[in-house]
Amino acid sequence: MREGNELRYTKIAMNNGRSIPALGFGTLIPDLGETQRATRTALEVGFRQFDCSERYRNEEAVGEALQGVLVERQIRRDDLFIATKLWNNNHRPERVKPAFEASLRRLRLDYVDLYLMHTPFAFLPGDDQDPRDENGRSLYDSGVTLLETWGAMELLVDEGKCHAIGLSDVGVEHLQDINRSARIRPSVVQVEAHPYLPQWELLQACKEAEIVLLAFAALGHSSEPRLLEDTVIKKVATAAGQTAAQVCLAWALQRGTAILTTSRSEHHIRESFEMSPISESAMKEIDGITTRYRFNNVVETGIPGFIPRAADRKDATAG
Ligand SMILES: NC(=O)c1ccc[n+]([C@@H]2O[C@H](COP(=O)([O-])OP(=O)(O)OC[C@H]3O[C@@H](n4cnc5c(N)ncnc54)[C@H](OP(=O)(O)O)[C@@H]3O)[C@@H](O)[C@H]2O)c1
Repeated sequence: MREGNELRYTKIAMNNGRSIPALGFGTLIPDLGETQRATRTALEVGFRQFDCSERYRNEEAVGEALQGVLVERQIRRDDLFIATKLWNNNHRPERVKPAFEASLRRLRLDYVDLYLMHTPFAFLPGDDQDPRDENGRSLYDSGVTLLETWGAMELLVDEGKCHAIGLSDVGVEHLQDINRSARIRPSVVQVEAHPYLPQWELLQACKEAEIVLLAFAALGHSSEPRLLEDTVIKKVATAAGQTAAQVCLAWALQRGTAILTTSRSEHHIRESFEMSPISESAMKEIDGITTRYRFNNVVETGIPGFIPRAADRKDATAG
């Protein structure tokens, strides 16, 4: 399934005949200026896969950064892999295409490489991304099925404005439901995955179905319990002469997932890109970590958000 020699340039073949650069940069950054700067830095450093969402409310800032490198002809559009996502308030089939086209306009692109259903939860249709009742409870939409939303996404592929479609924040059951019934099968499944949440069962199901597992929070989102402070990770990092972050990224790529990491710091963006392979025995040591922890609740409710970390509570409203 792998193509390419150097780990950081790994591409994984997708079931639509195209491939995805395995090492990806996520754009869940609350501040617009920081989003634009970090995206530009990631492009200059060498990242070619980018993850966006209408829910992040910063697609314009990502679009500015992309437009910069494309206009300056530093990078060709077909060397980039850009994904964005449909949010929960737009699951009704008639809302899918307008939501998709609005994302394309904000990103200043003619097509995206991947369009994901951000979560399997449909919220009340409308322009409010976070509809709630008077008691603050999220308002769900029971009038639309996953397959109906998926059908509208398939039409986007037919129109050529989106090369692949996929799911996010799903488990094995949702994946198999769609995979069995879909006219166009999912190419990618994006879920939280790292050594504290390795998702082995889902990874196996994805491999069997030729679906790429795209791991988010690959570094544990700087949250407690701190993955980058884990004793096994630190030991492997010291032995490999790499940082804890680099070792987590190498582990993720070497076990066959694509990944997303995010940073606002040029130093960290460069460091993450400059990771290199770890040994088979190091892989086994990381596989043997028994701590289990999910940092993001979205998979349970469709309500976005990392469990707030002490240092940065503002991130708790996105994701
Ligand atoms: N589908 C979904 O529901 C969903 C949910 C959440 C996220 N996502 C996607 O996944 C992306 C990645 O998620 P994430 O933000 O949790 O990723 P992450 O890379 O696990 O966590 C980001 C944190 O790691 C730190 N960091 C980054 N590089 C580092 C390095 N080399 N050394 C040490 N620390 C480093 C960053 O701090 P600095 O900024 O200081 O470097 C930041 O605090 C998001 O941007 C988004 O695109 C999807």
